[in-house]
Amino acid sequence: MHLHKLEKIWLTFGIGALIVFLSVIGVSAFYLGNKPPSCLTTINPEKVDTTKPFNKPGLHKVEGKDWDYELVFVASAFFYDPGAVKVPLGAKVKVIATTKDVIHGFEVAGTNINMMLEPGYVSEYTTTFDKAGEFLIVCNEYCGAGHHLMSSKIEVVK
Ligand code: CUA
Repeated sequence: MHLHKLEKIWLTFGIGALIVFLSVIGVSAFYLGNKPPSCLTTINPEKVDTTKPFNKPGLHKVEGKDWDYELVFVASAFFYDPGAVKVPLGAKVKVIATTKDVIHGFEVAGTNINMMLEPGYVSEYTTTFDKAGEFLIVCNEYCGAGHHLMSSKIEVVK
C-alpha cells in the first residue's frame, strides 16, 4: 500500500495526539486517582431517612479523614433538609447529598459547587469554605410545581 507523504504526516500526528490524550487520562485516573464524582455510590431512595449518613442531615465533625466536616443534605420536593446550616470559615467540607424522589439540583450560588441529585445515587463534593457570608443553595433542575421555591442556605461564619 502506498501512502502519500502528507497522509503519513497526518497519521503520525493523529496517532501521536491519541497517545498523548490517552496517557493524560491514564495518569489522571490510575496515578492521581481521579474519578467521576461518586459515580458508584448508590442508595435505596425509599430508605434515605434510615440510611447513614442521611438519617442525620446537617453538619458533622469528622476525625481521621482528609476533610474536617461532612455536610449532609437530603433533597425532596420541594425543600432541602437542613433548610439552613452554619459552616465555620476555612473548614474543609465534604458535601454529601441525595434525593428521596425526583431529580433535583444542588447549586451553591457564588461557589463552584453544582451537583445533580439523582434518586438512587449519592452526590459528593469536597471543598473549603474560605469566604465568609451567606450562600444560597438553589435547585437548578426542574422538579415540579414548587421548583422555584426550593432553596436552602449555607452561612459561613468565623
Ligand atoms: Cu428541586 Cu427543582
